[in-house]
Amino acid sequence: MTKKIAVLPGDGIGPEIVAQAVKVLQAMPELNLEMEEAAIGGAGYDTAGDPLPEATLKLAREADAVLLGAVGGPQYDKLDRPLRPERGLLRIRKELNLFANLRPALLYPELADSSSLKPEVVSGLDIMIVRELTGDVYFGQPRGIEVRNGERVGFNTMIYSESEVRRVARVAFDIAMKRGKKLCSVEKANVLECSELWKEVVIEVSKGYPEVELSHMYVDNAAMQLVKWPKQFDVIVTGNIFGDILSDQASMLSGSIGMLPSASLDENNKGMYEPIHGSAPDIAGKNVANPLATILSAAMMLRYTFGDEANAQRIEQAVRKVLADGVRTADIYTAGTKKVSCSEMGDAVVAALK
Ligand code: IPM
Ligand code: MG
Repeated sequence: MTKKIAVLPGDGIGPEIVAQAVKVLQAMPELNLEMEEAAIGGAGYDTAGDPLPEATLKLAREADAVLLGAVGGPQYDKLDRPLRPERGLLRIRKELNLFANLRPALLYPELADSSSLKPEVVSGLDIMIVRELTGDVYFGQPRGIEVRNGERVGFNTMIYSESEVRRVARVAFDIAMKRGKKLCSVEKANVLECSELWKEVVIEVSKGYPEVELSHMYVDNAAMQLVKWPKQFDVIVTGNIFGDILSDQASMLSGSIGMLPSASLDENNKGMYEPIHGSAPDIAGKNVANPLATILSAAMMLRYTFGDEANAQRIEQAVRKVLADGVRTADIYTAGTKKVSCSEMGDAVVAALK
């Protein structure tokens, strides 16, 4: 049966990196994928006056999975907030109810030298960050900028309902069960009521998972521990904003932010797959970006939405081989390796599939 993929390249380097992931998927005709493109982010605003055009949302709803590049660019920063590219991304996550964001931080041994940390600190690193994606201060009401007592104030609302915490906690516990059976819940319960509830609910959910060793950590300490001794972590579960920050940080452990894929899943494992990095306007159009995070996101799509572990691993092994062969984009280049462009990296992965 054909499976339909909505392909949303977005802005900046988005089109270049997505083209490489599409190339890899097309090199596997046995997957039976039908891909259709639509605009999102600044590209959506440029073509339809909306960062999430109706046609794009319709395509994404009808598709079995969504593959996304990146959104945003300086030319859109002055637009009204609802028209900005980032809002298109937040809206599609919300509209599709993609509440569980899986961000694996894995160090490929060949990239130990590209990490900003010492090789012994990061070698063998394999962490899964589960970030809640449709709640928290990103969506909480009220929000705004207004004048109070003669001066402007900006405000947002950090809010989680127990059902929101419970469902993402379950996803994290289920993942922990399939991995090292260790889960660390990250919050700021020493200061925030929202975090206090988060922690309580995670403890309630843990009763259903007696085999998983649950720990709790304040987010500031977690940021420190991630660079001090990251291998203490197996699975981390955290809210939207803390997860946004900690996953960028964790990406550096793995050599480059250009290496980290993600899956954003709903209740039924329908998902949107995107690299965790942004649109990198400074290098857009130069064919130098690292497409591996996007290619690895396509592998996650096969694993989580289509339950096709074998082909997911086939892509991941191809990436491994390419790295072992010393093929590198600029962000992960070190002396003695071979520097290639974005599209050459895509070609190398395709060749390694064979
Ligand atoms: C991410 C990005 C987005 C986020 C931005 C582009 C809205 O940083 O996916 O991590 O904050 O979620
Ligand atoms: Mg981010």
